[in-house]
Amino acid sequence: MNKRMAFRLVLTGWLYLLTIGTSAQAQTSIVRMGAANTQLFDDGWLFSRFGLQADGSRREEPAHLEEEHLADGAWQQLNLPHDWAITGPFRIELDGNSGKLPWKGIGWYRKHFNIPAADAGKRIFVDFDGAMAYAKIWVNGQYVGTWPYGYNSFRMDITPYLHAGKENVIAVRLDTESWDSRWYPGAGIYRHVWLVKTNEVHVAHWGTYITTPTVTDKAAAVQVKVTVDNQGASPVKALVRTDVYELDIHNKPVKKITATSPTAITIAAGNNAITNATANVIAPKRWSIETPHRYLAQTIVSVNNKTVDTYNTAFGIRTIAFTPRDGFLLNGKRVAIKGVCNHHDLGALGAAINKSALTRQLKILSAMGCNAIRTSHNPPAPELLELADQLGFLVWDEAFDAWKHGKRKNDYNKLFPDWREKDLQALVHRDRNHPSVVIWSIGNEVMDQRDVAITKELADIVRKEDSTRPVSNAYNDPDGGRESGAAMALGLMGVNYFFSEQAKWDADPRYKDMPTMGSETSSCVSTRGEYFFDGDYKNWQVSSYDNAKPGWGCSPDEQFRTNAKYPHLLGEFVWTGFDYLGEPTPYNSDETNLLNFRNDPNKRAELEKALEALRKNNPPSRSSYFGIVDLCGFPKDRFYSYQAHWRPNLPMAHLFPHWNWPERIDSIVPVHVYTSGDEAELFLNGKSLGRKTKQPGVNFRLIWNDVKYTPGELKVVAYKDGKPWATDVIKTAGSAVKLSLQPESKSVVNDGEDLCYITLRVQDKDGIMVPRSHPLVTFSVEGPGEIVATDNGDPTSFVPFQSHDRPAFNGMAQVIVKAKKGAKGKLIVKAASEGLSPAAAIIEVR
Ligand code: GAL
Repeated sequence: MNKRMAFRLVLTGWLYLLTIGTSAQAQTSIVRMGAANTQLFDDGWLFSRFGLQADGSRREEPAHLEEEHLADGAWQQLNLPHDWAITGPFRIELDGNSGKLPWKGIGWYRKHFNIPAADAGKRIFVDFDGAMAYAKIWVNGQYVGTWPYGYNSFRMDITPYLHAGKENVIAVRLDTESWDSRWYPGAGIYRHVWLVKTNEVHVAHWGTYITTPTVTDKAAAVQVKVTVDNQGASPVKALVRTDVYELDIHNKPVKKITATSPTAITIAAGNNAITNATANVIAPKRWSIETPHRYLAQTIVSVNNKTVDTYNTAFGIRTIAFTPRDGFLLNGKRVAIKGVCNHHDLGALGAAINKSALTRQLKILSAMGCNAIRTSHNPPAPELLELADQLGFLVWDEAFDAWKHGKRKNDYNKLFPDWREKDLQALVHRDRNHPSVVIWSIGNEVMDQRDVAITKELADIVRKEDSTRPVSNAYNDPDGGRESGAAMALGLMGVNYFFSEQAKWDADPRYKDMPTMGSETSSCVSTRGEYFFDGDYKNWQVSSYDNAKPGWGCSPDEQFRTNAKYPHLLGEFVWTGFDYLGEPTPYNSDETNLLNFRNDPNKRAELEKALEALRKNNPPSRSSYFGIVDLCGFPKDRFYSYQAHWRPNLPMAHLFPHWNWPERIDSIVPVHVYTSGDEAELFLNGKSLGRKTKQPGVNFRLIWNDVKYTPGELKVVAYKDGKPWATDVIKTAGSAVKLSLQPESKSVVNDGEDLCYITLRVQDKDGIMVPRSHPLVTFSVEGPGEIVATDNGDPTSFVPFQSHDRPAFNGMAQVIVKAKKGAKGKLIVKAASEGLSPAAAIIEVR
């Protein structure tokens, strides 16, 4: 089996896992954990943009847009999640580091909604999963509250402002002009919003905390702490009980297995009380990466024998331990953390959350052997954690990119004085029941990383809310962080890039017992399908020979060597799994890059000069080159480097570059091979070019540096333990004659969210992809669906993601489609390009 087949097979397996039982079982699945009466509040919003506009002009923001009776009939109608900036246009004069997209502005959202008369006396909340940024909320013209940090989730109690039995209006003001970012943050209510209805006595927001203090193969003690609010005017006596069910991948409770005994509490008016009870699970099914079993804790609060609240919490039973010498232990077994850092955007979809896009990201990463995600550098969408729980990923859950001192003017430093505690508590309360979350991170390369007092204060806030996971901080000044003593306040040391003094710290009595990991590694840069023979950088692209990196980074191979040198390290989080919008290093003129050289004035001066030159040239680059896969999710060559290393038992070999070099006939074209085998033989047009052997721990790819280019067939046969293991073949393509479309799934669910990603390839007459072709392709659809976006992975493209016309980039492009809500039938997706035979793909809408 070759590696392309292996990639496909893994995807097919995942698809199977995700589709089994959806139709019949979905009705009883829990859509959203938390209060049982929680409804999606995404549809039917109105939007208007003020302040900075997409074209750079300004539109004055009138006063009192929150008013109940505002004439908002002409506002744009839309459904959430919504990212107001992803429609662009890309503008050359805007910052590359935040994607050259016009995300700064003031956005107002309004929604008219009815609250039935029968809801009088209920408590009604609106839960925002995230709104970028500086959210202020009004209901019926009255101010409800604010939550400025755009990445956190928050609840607004709108009960006092509502008219039961009548129409109500909620207004939300967002302001991204007051926010700065080192990457594309998106803009708007870019995550889901929920309407929650409870009685006056109910489980508090994120009011359950489930831990498993003892776990053996025979039994697990499940400790359930429940905070119950009494928002009524008189004290109540309540009974709190939690039933425990097995939970399937679709959030359907399968079987009740145990329960806590009921606990009686008295809750004063306007106050809360906490119950703490334990349930015993016999022969627990452990949550692990391979078998991510989950349970459901269903908490029932009753008053006078009447159920007043039902609250659902998914959790897992697993043990974790971080050891200084034996790495990370999950259920007592060592697991090397094979992680990637990812920013939150979903490429062509922008920051607007889409579960199907996120699921696809995780599937692609899993096929590579990745088992962990670092949510750089902010709280993720709740869907990420739910998917990580369901699919078996470990998560490094991160709070901030800045503390007291920002990297830019309007970073979190503006919020730090008043919000740090609230933001950290919100993160931990929301996420602490997820078995996937194994590490809390209070920061990334913050300016104050040597500050002992702040480090201790923030770590203590987290530990107070959850002491079952270590608190870490990602240091790009790990020596300073340790020398100052700040790192002593942590449970786990996070090292970004700078491992040169690691041996010294491993011997230091203060730190030798502190578990350590590569919280950020490599930062290799490349563009899919580009190969240069005289340097790594050209035309605002980066060669894909996987050696290019910024001054602080290293190739994947170099990092593997470092990891081998320090086998006690817990693992690594590669920067990054996916390309993302913004930060197009090495064509990024953002001065925050300099911060990586705070201890090296010479390197800093060198980089300063390079940045100055870059600024003069005004690079068109608007998205990153760091991804192991490109912005479309197409694997770059590096994908196979990690796959070879992280999935050593998967027979695979990957050859590169492509084999279309008419201008280099008889010139050298170096050939590289990633393989999970230990040696390999290369053949050009059937003739052996020799066999090469990997030296374990030393070289992680096989290189033939003396191959003279002749068109034809290049083939590699890899061996393991002397036996044939895997092959890969690439052939010189002829001229482009046709297009092909390959959907990643045969069907798409008509829920308005599910997406089908379709890969376009430009091919020669024999179906071989033409790797240097860039024809303009027009996509269209017939039937009950629409094109959501197109892309081609080119980090310099200014074609809007919503355009149906898109040039192929190095032989490939992508169209993303979705079905109309509730529709059925067949969706026909077409691609056409002048002079080439068109292609079509049929997708069933179900
Ligand atoms: C790190 C930083 C990341 C990203 C990366 C690029 O220093 O933490 O956010 O900027 O560099 O290599």
